[in-house]
Amino acid sequence: MKINLANIKKAMKLLNNRECVAIPTETVYGIAGNAYSDTACKKIFKLKKRPKNNPLIIHYYDLKKLRGDCDLNNDFLKLYKRFCPGPITFILSQKKTSKISKVATNQKSTLAVRFPKHPVARNLLKYLKFPIAAPSANISSRISAVTSSDVKDDFGKKIKYILEGGRSAIGIESTIIDLRKKPTILRLGGLEVEVIQRILKKKISINLNPSNISVPGQLRIHYSPGVPIRLNVKKIKKNEAFLSIKKSKINKKNNYFLSKKGNLKEAAKNLYTILRKIKKDNYKSIAVGKIQNKGFGKTINDRLLRASKF
Ligand code: TXA
Ligand code: MG
Repeated sequence: MKINLANIKKAMKLLNNRECVAIPTETVYGIAGNAYSDTACKKIFKLKKRPKNNPLIIHYYDLKKLRGDCDLNNDFLKLYKRFCPGPITFILSQKKTSKISKVATNQKSTLAVRFPKHPVARNLLKYLKFPIAAPSANISSRISAVTSSDVKDDFGKKIKYILEGGRSAIGIESTIIDLRKKPTILRLGGLEVEVIQRILKKKISINLNPSNISVPGQLRIHYSPGVPIRLNVKKIKKNEAFLSIKKSKINKKNNYFLSKKGNLKEAAKNLYTILRKIKKDNYKSIAVGKIQNKGFGKTINDRLLRASKF
C-alpha cells in the first residue's frame, strides 16, 4: 500500500494537539490519542461511550520506546522477537516512572501494550514523541471497524479525522496475553494460541471470563452488530438471515457466508464486514450455523457468543 505522508502529517498534528483521530491497524481500526495525555485519553472514552473502568491498549513503535514505561520479561522478549510488529497485545507491569496517563489505565499498575504492523500506523508511531492509546474504533459494545467507512458509519462528524489505510488485513482484534506470571490468554484474536504456544514452549492458560472486574471489556455483552443472534441453529425462521462459514449449495438471498471455501482465517477476517452487511440489509435476526471450534473458529465462536447475549 502507498503511504500518503501528507495524511500522516495531518494526523500527527491533531494528535500533538491532544485530539483523537481514527487510525488503521492490521487487526481493526482504532480511535487514537496521546497516551501520555489525560485530556486526549478522556476524549477517547467520551467518543466511544466507553466505561471509564475499561482500560485502553497502548500502541508503540518498538521495544526501545516501551522501555521507560514497562518491566520486560523473558516470555515477552521471546514473543516480541517472533511476532512483533503483529496482532498480539501483552499485559505487563508498569514502571513507577511510566508516563502513561492514569485515565488510559484506570489507575491500574498493569499496561496492555501492542506493536501494530500496518505501515500507516507504524509511520505515525515512528515519528510521534509519545505512544498512542487506541481502543477499537466502534461505539462501546458494538463490533469493531475494519474500513474507514465503518468508522464513518459509527462516528460521523464526531471524529475529527480518519486516516485512510484500506481494509484491515486480519479483520479481528489482537490476541491478549497476560505475561506477568503464568502466561494467560485474556482474549482470543488475530494470532492463534497454538502458534504462541509453539514459541513459548510452556503451558498457556486461557481465562476469557475473569471473575474479577480487571478486564471489564471481556465480561459484558460485546461485539454486537445491533441485531439479535441465535447460535448453532438448525432450523431458520422466516425473514431471518442465515450465517455460515462456507458457501452453501442452496444459495438463497438470506444466506451469508464468511469464506467461499470454508477457510477459518478468511472467515474471521470477513466476520465484522458480513455482520454489518446483514444489519444494513435490514434483517431483524441472525441465525448462525455450527462453526468448527478450532484455531480461528474459536475466535469467531467467542465473538458470536458474546454478541448473542444482546
Ligand atoms: O487489535 C486490537 O487490539 C485493537 C487495535 C485498534 O489495536 N484494539 C482493541 O482495543 O481491540 P479495545 O479497547 O477494543 O480492547 C482492549 C481490551 C479490552 O477488553 C480491555 O479490557 C483490555 O484490552 N485491557 C486493556 N488494558 C488492560 C489491562 N491492563 N489488563 C487487562 N486487560 C486490559
Ligand atoms: Mg473493542
